[in-house]
Amino acid sequence: MTTPDATVDDRLASLDLRAKVRLLTGASMFTLHGDETLGLAPLALSDGPTGVRGLVFTGGPTASLFPNATLVASSWSVETAHEVGTLLAEEAQRQRIHVVLGPTINLHRSPLGGRLFEAYSEDPLLTGVLAAAYVRGLQERGTGACLKHLVANEAETDRHTVDSVVDERTLREVYLLPFEIAVADADPWSVMAAYNDVNGVPATEQDDVNNRILKGEWGFEGLLVSDWFATKSAGPAANGGLDLVMPGPDGPWGDALVAAVETGEVTESVVDEHVRRLLLLASRVGALGTHRTWPDDVPEPGSEVRRAQLTRLAAQGMTVLTNNGVLPLDRSARTTLVGRHALDTVDMGGGSAQVNPPHQVCVAEGLRARLGSRLNVVDGVQIRTRPRAADVAFVVDPETGTPGVRLRVRGTSGALLRDDHLDRADSLVGLDDDLPEQAATAVLSARVAAGAVRLGVIGVGSWTLRVDGQEHRVDLEPETADVGEAVLRPPGWSLDLTLAEPAVVVAEVDLSVMPCGRLGLVVEPIPASDEEAIAVAARAAAEAEVAVVVVGLTEEQETEAADKSSLALPGRQDELVSVVAAAAPRTIVVVNAATPVLMPWRDEVDAILWAGIPGQEGGHAVAAALLNEIEPAGRLVTTLPARDGATPAWDVVPTDGVLAYTEGPFIGYRGHAAGLAAAPAFWFGHGLGYGSWEYGDPVTSVQEGVVELRVELTNTGGHDSREVVQVYLDPRQPDQPVRLVGWSAVDVAAGKTVTATVRCEPRMWRTWDVDAHTWRQLSGGDLILARGLGDVRHRLLAPGNDPKTGDTR
Ligand code: BGC
Repeated sequence: MTTPDATVDDRLASLDLRAKVRLLTGASMFTLHGDETLGLAPLALSDGPTGVRGLVFTGGPTASLFPNATLVASSWSVETAHEVGTLLAEEAQRQRIHVVLGPTINLHRSPLGGRLFEAYSEDPLLTGVLAAAYVRGLQERGTGACLKHLVANEAETDRHTVDSVVDERTLREVYLLPFEIAVADADPWSVMAAYNDVNGVPATEQDDVNNRILKGEWGFEGLLVSDWFATKSAGPAANGGLDLVMPGPDGPWGDALVAAVETGEVTESVVDEHVRRLLLLASRVGALGTHRTWPDDVPEPGSEVRRAQLTRLAAQGMTVLTNNGVLPLDRSARTTLVGRHALDTVDMGGGSAQVNPPHQVCVAEGLRARLGSRLNVVDGVQIRTRPRAADVAFVVDPETGTPGVRLRVRGTSGALLRDDHLDRADSLVGLDDDLPEQAATAVLSARVAAGAVRLGVIGVGSWTLRVDGQEHRVDLEPETADVGEAVLRPPGWSLDLTLAEPAVVVAEVDLSVMPCGRLGLVVEPIPASDEEAIAVAARAAAEAEVAVVVVGLTEEQETEAADKSSLALPGRQDELVSVVAAAAPRTIVVVNAATPVLMPWRDEVDAILWAGIPGQEGGHAVAAALLNEIEPAGRLVTTLPARDGATPAWDVVPTDGVLAYTEGPFIGYRGHAAGLAAAPAFWFGHGLGYGSWEYGDPVTSVQEGVVELRVELTNTGGHDSREVVQVYLDPRQPDQPVRLVGWSAVDVAAGKTVTATVRCEPRMWRTWDVDAHTWRQLSGGDLILARGLGDVRHRLLAPGNDPKTGDTR
């Protein structure tokens, strides 16, 4: 390994074993130990892929909430991914953060994976290329990136124990490839080892992946950090290539690693190597020796400039799935907007990707700003099954009289450990708040208005809820014994009642079952029944010229720590769409989800706009896309199956602890094309935008081993538009799936013709030889020029094909 800063080695030499080992476990949830004598500042790490949320899980500083990763990826644009990295670096600088824990570059294997929203796509090339651009955007501004999660971490069920069993060829050609591309092309300063095992060995102990491939073959010089609480051992993890255990200050290294060195299980040179990498990271982010300065002119998360950037980034990735001409939406039309997602637009997924945005613009607000009184808005059916912490609009801290909740936490000694005003209605207790002793009880209290109200609590423990002279008791058990899961998916309970007068709600919890976790207060208006909502929507749709129905998933499905069991929209949303489509003259559906859902009504409606999880400006972005203020020029980054189970990889539930990747390299469109699953509803790469395209005859050439394809395209539609020219390789060998090998995005004015050039990625012609443990070149095959494999425009022999022998290039 090369060390650009020679002083790293000098500094290392000055440390004894204990001092070195101390540096190799975090100092807190998101910080590392500093060392004054070394000139080492404590490094600050923050999630995550779609916003820099700060040094705590919840209640962190206000931060910009970006469109989620699939929406960013849907632009199929290196410039966009780079811009996101740049803006995240600015967000990090504002908060004095050294490393942002992203991008997430696991693949969309099964559409049931709960965390796919955080990861770019089902395709390793698209994922790797975008990841490299995002990493460059961050690191060019001195903020470290962290590729995560190495490797085969495509589902959440039993995520701490599951063994992903993946054959060597598939691992190389598919799941390691995005990491390989990003390491080679962008030199990320850190990588995160996953929770799961890979072929029987924990990812944090994977000598083969971590030492031999990542650090050896690929020459990765950065720091390999564990996922939070993922490290299971001292010696095997330290020897297996893990450099840093997170979080701290406790953990499985410390004394155990010192002992492992003393007994000879781990050599001191292994420890030195970990520390050297840590110091190198510190020097790269400006935390070693001369410390970096932080700019003070970074735009605020709610500033006009950020708002415009985030609106554009979200809108341009939105994807037109079907359109019979109703889109772009006619501004002068009398429009009825329907759906809970229109009023309560889901703008982030659940888990560590959550941030505390300055505001959240719903679709109703975005469209209202543009259509004014021509817009009629009606609520839809229920979309959640779990109670949610109150919107601060409904709660007032009885102590301060300001919006929010009062939280008091007492320790086992009875001492008052926290007495806080929260400007939200939930908080983590006992995890990232550095309590001096273990929490024993907590009390959340708030003043609420008179009227019919749903009240409840969130969090593990024995609760007593007092309101209006009544007392309600409930015991909430964790779904699993795992603290992390209880934080991410806490249990909840609520009841409906009518308050004659404004009242103070006091919810007290005994924390003896779990002394730490997420605690929250539920206060919300009691919603109408689904029957009523559907009937109201049908009447409103009948009076409109156009109905826009917004449906989707919520953080209950698109979340860390849980997978889905079906792709069906939650609740009675399908029924709502069908009823509105039957009543309205024209109907547009906006899908507010990042990952596949079933759309049984797709032939009943006039257009479908796939809006992803669009971030804090989501409502403005949807409105801008519908009205073509910004073209929704996205292309799908994952295949949308036609029904549950109709996909090459489906199961996410391990059998006897094993999740077998039996489909090999045939995930997503690759498997559909090979006949492993029925034709999908919409293919990876599909997206109509507002253009309409005629392709000329493609011409190929090979320059220094790189295949280039050139083709003339004409935008025959009435709007200026952006086309994404996609090139796939269909190899001759039946065990080799069709795969994306390159793409190019071009902007073309209405009626104009341009020549697009696609440079194909040579890595996509490789196949891994498992006997020789080396790459071999594929030969022969066809190139396919397509707008997603459901709309193939040309098929031609891959250049260099010798028609007699099949030999190539
Ligand atoms: C997630 C990581 C995240 C970490 C820190 C873990 O639960 O898997 O992606 O970076 O928490 O929040």
